Amino acid sequence: MTNKKIVFSGIQPSGVIHLGNYLGAIKQWIDLQDKYFSIFCIVDMHAITVQQEPEELQKNIRELAAIYLASGLDPKKAIIFVQSDVSAHTELAWVLNCNTQMGELERMTQFKDKSQRHKQNINAGLFTYPALMAADILLYQTNKVPVGEDQRQHVELTRDIAHRVNNKYGQVFEEPEALLPEVGARIMGLDDPTSKMSKSASSGNNYIAMTDEPDKIRKKIMKAVTDSGSEVKFDEEKKPAISNLLTIYSLVTEKNIKSLEKEYAGKGYGDFKKGLAEAVVEFIEPIQKKYKEYIDDQPKLEKILTNGAKEAAKLAQPTMENVRKVVGLGVAND
Ligand code: TYM
Repeated sequence: MTNKKIVFSGIQPSGVIHLGNYLGAIKQWIDLQDKYFSIFCIVDMHAITVQQEPEELQKNIRELAAIYLASGLDPKKAIIFVQSDVSAHTELAWVLNCNTQMGELERMTQFKDKSQRHKQNINAGLFTYPALMAADILLYQTNKVPVGEDQRQHVELTRDIAHRVNNKYGQVFEEPEALLPEVGARIMGLDDPTSKMSKSASSGNNYIAMTDEPDKIRKKIMKAVTDSGSEVKFDEEKKPAISNLLTIYSLVTEKNIKSLEKEYAGKGYGDFKKGLAEAVVEFIEPIQKKYKEYIDDQPKLEKILTNGAKEAAKLAQPTMENVRKVVGLGVAND
């Protein structure tokens, strides 16, 4: 299919896409698409592991696609598509489910967290979700999976499943690795620097949504929790809140943390937050402008996603055919 190494990643279209998603995942993807054969997915099948309104889900899929494109993912360089438009994902997921142990799934910290939060809907899909994620990745013979820290465990499980299947049936899958950004793999909540920035946080002040208005961004940053003392210094143990804000500042401006510390030496948290707020607004505004262009042109958006799905389906076919063959499934041909 290609001599280049293959990159695959995805985001759930389940509401808000925040700066953590951007800095932990999308930011890496933009660089990777130039070097690797890249496939970026909107994983709507994953999103339905929690209750979704159909119209809302359709809207979220499109909005996420517009964010991908506005951020700089380029359909000429990368395949961009919606997971459910390529049925091989769920087909392979079933086979992988049959090669995944309950105990492995029970150890997934995200399952433990989510089943705590959605006690009234702990469905089987929520439990077996990592096998679907493994299918997404393995279907394309992926080498690298650029994700934030919270997805590392799922990628490691994917690797274990691939290894197990290869041992059983011969070389069926590449055994992929997670690719985490050196800085920004775990952006923390603005209102609570002890837990990650999350779209399911109880307060909107936890995150900066990629679509938040500039004034809202300013307000959220000015409200962000700080640490005791007044010095702007990176120290994750003693100053988790300021360290998180410095990380964000550094990533959106490409200035290193040391130079930011120098810039704010002798100034207080107030000045620092004002500077950060303007830096984030300056960074997000051009993305929002492009976002609006994409979201206002639905036919173009649909065309990109339809073409992407066609290409992805073609790429997935040989792996799926091989899986059916080695496992001993089916009879009908063509
Ligand atoms: P999702 O939709 O929760 O998150 C999308 C991406 O954003 C990263 N991320 C963060 N990075 C830094 N700081 C944060 N606070 C933060 N919050 C989220 C995530 O690590 C992720 O990279 N199961 C996956 C989606 C998925 C997938 C895949 C990913 C499905 N199939 C195949 C890679 C390959 C998920 O729910 O991500």
